[in-house]
Amino acid sequence: MAHDGVSKWLAYHRANGELIGRGGLSGSTVDGRDCLEIGWAVRQQFWGRGYATEIGQAGPSYAFEVLAAQEVLSYTEIHNRQSRAVMEGRGMHHERDITPPGLVAGLHGIQDAAPFALCAVPRSATSQDVSDLRPILGGGQ
Ligand SMILES: CC(C)(COP(=O)(O)OP(=O)(O)OC[C@H]1O[C@@H](n2cnc3c(N)ncnc32)[C@H](O)[C@@H]1OP(=O)(O)O)[C@@H](O)C(=O)NCCC(=O)NCCS
Repeated sequence: MAHDGVSKWLAYHRANGELIGRGGLSGSTVDGRDCLEIGWAVRQQFWGRGYATEIGQAGPSYAFEVLAAQEVLSYTEIHNRQSRAVMEGRGMHHERDITPPGLVAGLHGIQDAAPFALCAVPRSATSQDVSDLRPILGGGQ
């Protein structure tokens, strides 16, 4: 299943329009498996306020309720504790580890085979109405 036209959102502060971060869905390939991937990056001054968690809820809701996807995948370097906390707190289960290029704790630069945790959230894991979540998200890529 191709996912043309699906791309990350930008998230802006409701009150003043300041850019908070970037996240949401995009098409990806994991071990040859075409999938919808969810990811997040929040500007450092906004860490710890639950913004990535909001993205982690809005993305799967959109995937299941608008795109009729059956699952959403997410992966992060295994030492990225914040990102793993977002993944594992959102009804995702740790499926297995994978080794694409990425960062390895204690080594400098991108490594050819870095350990990543791969998590999956099945369609049944969320029931939140996507319409409740749209107002927090700005448009864009
Ligand atoms: C990962 C990232 C997006 C988290 O954003 P955030 O808005 O601060 O996340 P939240 O406030 O929603 O917190 C998410 C969870 O992380 C936990 N957390 C925060 N700091 C942590 C730390 N140092 N170690 C472990 N868990 C941590 C929080 O307790 C929360 O878990 P909870 O809901 O069970 O309490 C942010 O740190 C970031 O942008 N990092 C750089 C980019 C990046 O690594 N992106 C992921 C690439 S795969």
